[in-house]
Amino acid sequence: MSLKATFERNRQRYEEELTDFLKIPSVSARSEHKQDLARCAEWLAGKLTEVGMAAEVIATPGHPIVYGELLEAGEDAPTVLVYGHYDVQPVEPLDEWESPPFEPTVRDGRIYARGSADDKGQIYLHVKALEAYREAVGTPPINLKFIFEGEEEVGSDNLENFVRNNKERLASDACVVSDTPMLAADLPSVVIGLRGLVYIEVRLRGPRQDLHSGAYGGAVTNPANALAGMIAALKDDKGRITLPGFYDDVIEPSDEEKKALAEIPTTEKELLEQTGAPALGDGEEGVHFLNRIWTRPTLDVNGLLSGYTGEGAKTIIPATAMAKISLRLVPNQDPEAVTQALEEQLRSLLPVGLEMEIERHSWGLPWYSDPAGPLFRAASTAVKEVFGRGPLFIREGGSIPIVPMIERELGVPVLLLGFVLPGSNLHSPNEWLSIEMYHKGIATVTRLYDAIAREYRA
Ligand code: BES
Ligand code: MN
Ligand code: MN
Repeated sequence: MSLKATFERNRQRYEEELTDFLKIPSVSARSEHKQDLARCAEWLAGKLTEVGMAAEVIATPGHPIVYGELLEAGEDAPTVLVYGHYDVQPVEPLDEWESPPFEPTVRDGRIYARGSADDKGQIYLHVKALEAYREAVGTPPINLKFIFEGEEEVGSDNLENFVRNNKERLASDACVVSDTPMLAADLPSVVIGLRGLVYIEVRLRGPRQDLHSGAYGGAVTNPANALAGMIAALKDDKGRITLPGFYDDVIEPSDEEKKALAEIPTTEKELLEQTGAPALGDGEEGVHFLNRIWTRPTLDVNGLLSGYTGEGAKTIIPATAMAKISLRLVPNQDPEAVTQALEEQLRSLLPVGLEMEIERHSWGLPWYSDPAGPLFRAASTAVKEVFGRGPLFIREGGSIPIVPMIERELGVPVLLLGFVLPGSNLHSPNEWLSIEMYHKGIATVTRLYDAIAREYRA
């Protein structure tokens, strides 16, 4: 049977199985979901077994890793490592979801559910691609190793150790990851740059308890005022981050990339529609809005907490203030050096009368890859066969810390080939996956097997 007929015949089942996958609430950040992650890993490993892989669930000090192998193409054939994550982000605020996050619902050709786009739908399309290929054609012409983790959204700590300690087992010629968006339904995209990440939590402590702001205000330092001022001082009036030496290691995009940017049809209006923001911010002066996301570093407050936030007014000086602050970094910035500069800057900005604690959370290296060589040629071929045109090579503003790590530790090129449309509400309420892109993803991956086999044998 042809691949096309196989896709047609199984189309509905591919969607139903994804729905089952999406029903499992695999929220890695929440300890109350620990059992759900374990159950999700078992479910996924079962599916890998069903499509002919030798699969296992590997326990870690955190959530398990799912690993599967199909090494039937022979020693001369190339081996491809497919990475993805089955954990998802928390779902709050729940009342903003039009249908419950773990009851997948189809509306307007989209599956709405937490994890549909990031990243369960995008790993499951690899599972179904392998199934379809075996059903329609037979054993794929490449060896396949699937590694799916349950801790991407919380920093991939245990996967990092696993990769470091299992280099031989994971040895491969290329790595393929579907965990990124594409520019539009008719603009397939390969992502060649990701930002890195530094994430800290700052806690300020002033008086022993909340105080009457009339009785003490003016004499006692207010932690909320102080924190607001400290955060404000981290950027200047041109939108530039004030940490000393912060921009020294930033690499300008190449002329080729600058030229490519002019051909990208994404508009500011689309960004406004996606976000619902009343207008785009000033951002960094003189930088194209896409480059502000793709090739320039940023600093953002991700959470802020202090004082009285209930109904009406309450005149107090809060005892504490807390902020979660992250920076997105670009090549060649060093997360460790940036964290140290940030900690030092915050210490120097701290007014008298307060104590400060800084806790470090996740971090990740920025990443950039020159889209040359057999892997990228194969991707172009496969994409062209399914979408009728080759991919755009773009950068993205998000982070996947394991990507630079896999590239370095295993010494393989990484292809980021994702099928998520812009505005899919990753990490937000009402996350969705285009059903059409899911099926096109399955088809593209089957074409990629052949294209990689050809390119690596040539
Ligand atoms: N799939 C995303 C990364 C992504 C998002 C890449 C948008 C390109 C565009 C990934 O699951 C993610 O959310 N990563 C985190 C990293 C963190 C938790 C260490 C991120 O970017 O915030
Ligand atoms: Mn993801
Ligand atoms: Mn994510």
